[in-house]
Order: sequence, then C-alpha cells, then structure tokens
Amino acid sequence: MRLGARGIHLYELWPEDGSSLPLPAPGSHIDLILPNGLIRQYSLVTPKCTEHCYVIGVKHEPAGRGGSRWLHQELRLGQSLLVGACRNAFELAESDSPYVLFAGGIGITPIYSMYCYLKAQGRQVHLHYWGESAQTMLFHDELAVDADVTLYPKTGYPKTGQSARPRLKALAQSLSKDAQIYCCGPGAMIEDLVEVARECGLSDVHYEYFGKIESAAPEGAQQVTLAKSGRVIDVAEDESILEALVRNDVDVMYSCEQGICGACEVRFLEGDPVHMDRVKEASEHTKDRTMMICCSRAGAQKLVLDI
Ligand code: FES
Repeated sequence: MRLGARGIHLYELWPEDGSSLPLPAPGSHIDLILPNGLIRQYSLVTPKCTEHCYVIGVKHEPAGRGGSRWLHQELRLGQSLLVGACRNAFELAESDSPYVLFAGGIGITPIYSMYCYLKAQGRQVHLHYWGESAQTMLFHDELAVDADVTLYPKTGYPKTGQSARPRLKALAQSLSKDAQIYCCGPGAMIEDLVEVARECGLSDVHYEYFGKIESAAPEGAQQVTLAKSGRVIDVAEDESILEALVRNDVDVMYSCEQGICGACEVRFLEGDPVHMDRVKEASEHTKDRTMMICCSRAGAQKLVLDI
C-alpha cells in the first residue's frame, strides 16, 4: 500500500499461493470481499498490474458506504482478502478514430489505464482530467508533463455540473464527429457529457459511473411478494428491496449495491417497477421483465418477484 494522492491509496494485491494472474485489459475491475461482509468493485490500474500483482486505487470516502473506510483504516499490510475474478464492463473498443478521454476525481483509474494503453499503441489520444486540487489528483505529476493531457485542478467537477458544463460543451464542439469518447467520473459529469455530446452530434460515447445513484425513486414503505414461497416482505422507506430481502434471510445475489454491475437482477412476474439502475435501459427491463433490486423500487402496482 502506498499513498497515490491526498486521500487516495494505491493497494498492491498478491495471490497468496503465488499463482499467475491474467493480465487485465484497460477498464477491468475486481470485486473485493471485505471481512465486514461488504463487496466492493474497484477498477484496476492496469499499467501497474503484472501477472503476480494487481493494483487498485481507492479514494477514502468518509461518508461512503464503508468499503473505502475499511480499506483506509482497518486493512493491515499482509492481511488476506478475498478477491473476485477480474471482469470488464468498460471495454475499450478498437478504432482508427481519435480517442478523447474524460476523467473526474477517482474516475481516473480506468481512464488512466486506457490512456496508457492507447499511448503505448501509438494511437491518437487526449485526456481531460478534472480534480479538486493537484494534491488530490492521482497521477497528477506524471500527467502534468504530458502534452496529450489537459488537467483541470482546483475546479473539481461540481455536483450540479453547472459551472463546468460550458467548458465541456466547448470541448465537445471541438472534437471530430468520429471521436471515440470515454468518460468515468461523477454522475453530473457523465450526464453533462452525454448531453453535450448529443447536442454536438457525437455518437461514440462510452462511460462508467462511480458512486451511489442519486435517485428519484418512489418514496415510502413498500411490499414485495416472493412467488416461490408466497412470502410478503416489507421494505422500509429507507432501505432497498435487496436490503429487505437480506434482512429476512432470503438468499439473493448481489455485488455493487449501486445499480451498476447487474448482479442483483431478478425477474418480476407482476408489477410495474421504477428502474433506477445504470445497467440497462428501462425499455430493456420492460422487455425482459427484470429489475435490479439493489436500487429499483416497486411502482404503484403490487410487485411479485420470481424468487
Ligand atoms: S448489486 Fe450491482 S446492480 Fe444491483
């Protein structure tokens, strides 16, 4: 473990048995299963990964859900952790077009991996990177001397996105229409980028969110019915369907609890859920009759899950 930037640690994870690891592609992530039961996803810093060691960058989020707090405050050098297989939900597509990468805050971890890969391939690429200050920006000093990188320290990316949006729009207007755009950062940044890209006629926009989804899900306590047992589960106003099921010892799969990984997807047999995840479009859920129970809520009708 070492300090990557203020409030960010870089962790090196070594297989206990000395076995070889597959070399991860840029955009890949792993699940960490923490001793306190939390399962959290972290992007791999692939340029620093080898077949004997994976590297992740973790920002301490004191107000977060506990994963980064545990890693920053409890993890000890040499301690064993369970680590899930490497997966990639943010793949870099091969293209002859120029690549333009956008990162906000700790969203730099997959974007830095893509940037290094593309540079090594001799591809045309430019990275735009927002952060709160030079001291809090991972890889700041290395990137600051690179002509293909533009840094925006001391501006962060405002939660509302309003003050940074004009600059984002000016950048989008300057890009060629076939640009391959990749972005990882706070929700406001991605939403702004997707919108300005659409206004500017840019169609190849790929992105990955981090952080909990700020939702406008239906408020109030709810109930869900489990078709296989007939049990009716009360879901409190301040808990997710997933949390209510776990609290009632119902065996369900889940991972991120943020609506971004797809692990908690279940079929529903009746109802009209309000979909809040970022895994699928609501229309896909309607067609497949599935929902992500970590973030989506029951709608006005009775909700019956196929579990
Ligand atoms: S647990 Fe990841 S989408 Fe629900």
